[in-house]
Amino acid sequence: MSVIAIDQGTTSTRSLKLNEDGQYSITHSIAHEQHYPQPGWVEHDPEELIRNIQACINASGKVDAIGIDNQGESCLAWDAETKEALTSVIVWQDKRTSNVIEKLKQEDHEETTLAKAGLPLDPYFSASKLGWIIKNSPEAKEAQSRGKLRLGTTDAFFLDRLTGKCVTDITTASRTSLMNLRTHQWDEELCALFGVPMNSLPDIVPTTGNFGTIQTDNGPVPVTASIVDQQAALYGFGCRKEGDGKITFGTGAFALMVTGSELHHRPDLGLLPTVAWQKHGEAPVYALDGGVYTASAALNWAKGLGLFEKFEDINQFTSHAAIDQGLVFVPALSGLGCPHWDDKARGSWMGLSLDHEPQQLIQAILEGIAFRAAEIWNAMQQCVASTGPVPVDGGMSQNAYFIQFLSDCLGRTVQPANIPELTAIGTALLAAEGVGHPIAFTPEFGKHVPMVDRSAGYQKFQKAVGMSRNWS
Ligand code: G3P
Repeated sequence: MSVIAIDQGTTSTRSLKLNEDGQYSITHSIAHEQHYPQPGWVEHDPEELIRNIQACINASGKVDAIGIDNQGESCLAWDAETKEALTSVIVWQDKRTSNVIEKLKQEDHEETTLAKAGLPLDPYFSASKLGWIIKNSPEAKEAQSRGKLRLGTTDAFFLDRLTGKCVTDITTASRTSLMNLRTHQWDEELCALFGVPMNSLPDIVPTTGNFGTIQTDNGPVPVTASIVDQQAALYGFGCRKEGDGKITFGTGAFALMVTGSELHHRPDLGLLPTVAWQKHGEAPVYALDGGVYTASAALNWAKGLGLFEKFEDINQFTSHAAIDQGLVFVPALSGLGCPHWDDKARGSWMGLSLDHEPQQLIQAILEGIAFRAAEIWNAMQQCVASTGPVPVDGGMSQNAYFIQFLSDCLGRTVQPANIPELTAIGTALLAAEGVGHPIAFTPEFGKHVPMVDRSAGYQKFQKAVGMSRNWS
């Protein structure tokens, strides 16, 4: 018995094959283009994503089931009949709806979104993006007039196109700001608030179950799991009980912590209650979520500026920590998410002086990302006390300087995963459960213990965050 996970992420699509003995291999990986048609806009070509998914599936040979994980809040419109995309994918990072969100805030609608969806008003979530589509896309309007409009996150588009089932799983629906977190159904008031026609949305279903069948080069294969990539990673880490959490350092950094059957609603801490997973026939398991929008995206930006050449060059430094030299970087290059929720905040170095060199600027970037992740983890500790080590993954988890600094900021042991594919592993494990053949898998971790007390630096960083806010 074997399954594949398709990890359809922000920058690439990858496939991982998992056998019943827990052995796995990456079978394919393809990057896709990022389109920036206007300042603040980020788009993907839906057809390119579909092609890449199909290539990943077909490169994986014969398998018993497929699981797909998705980017979360990225969304689009498509035609219910032809299954053709009517718009580009508007990516989770896209800020085109900042003004709409600002207006909704001024009209005091945030109380409603917080109470019903558990989410603050922010362009990050799909709702305002879907509302934008219906207002601005002639193709979407035309399909609506024919009663053939479909609006949704990328998972629903992939499934509708590839299996003919127009559904979205509950974890992805919980990222839209249109689902009522208590009823697990689309909420009429929220849909009206964002101008999203409820009848164009996919049906909400559990994370595992029957998502239809994909015709592959190796015959028909059922899809048995669909989930947001961050939630998939949480599952791949082996997080199952209240207080188990992880931080993934990818394009952005995303911390999730399981809260069990209980929905923790703490808008005062800026944390998002979200669905971690729901297995077929079982009740949903909830989590708290918090994101740093720019993690490796900030490093790629610095590399593009010429501050360093190779990622291997920024694993260790001869100079003292930047924070000890009065230099702070706030990685708010596309606003601040949890716990601040300020899409007008912008990135900044503070404390620059004539003696600073590129390497200190880079140290400050790495430290700023670690401080931001610590802000989120510390907020989570106020809801769910967990004293154990902090497991991490993603590209930056292999950067020794960064991970040591993170451990110092948190005052906790930080455990980088020894394998880089926990998102796909989580999806594959759920797909195996969905097809009725659970697979045992235990990830292995490294270990960094705290060595320096960074509480004074943390306070300085928070002061800098305050100064970066409300900038644009
Ligand atoms: O919320 C967005 C997040 O799920 C995207 O993750 O791995 O596709 O950058 P990733």
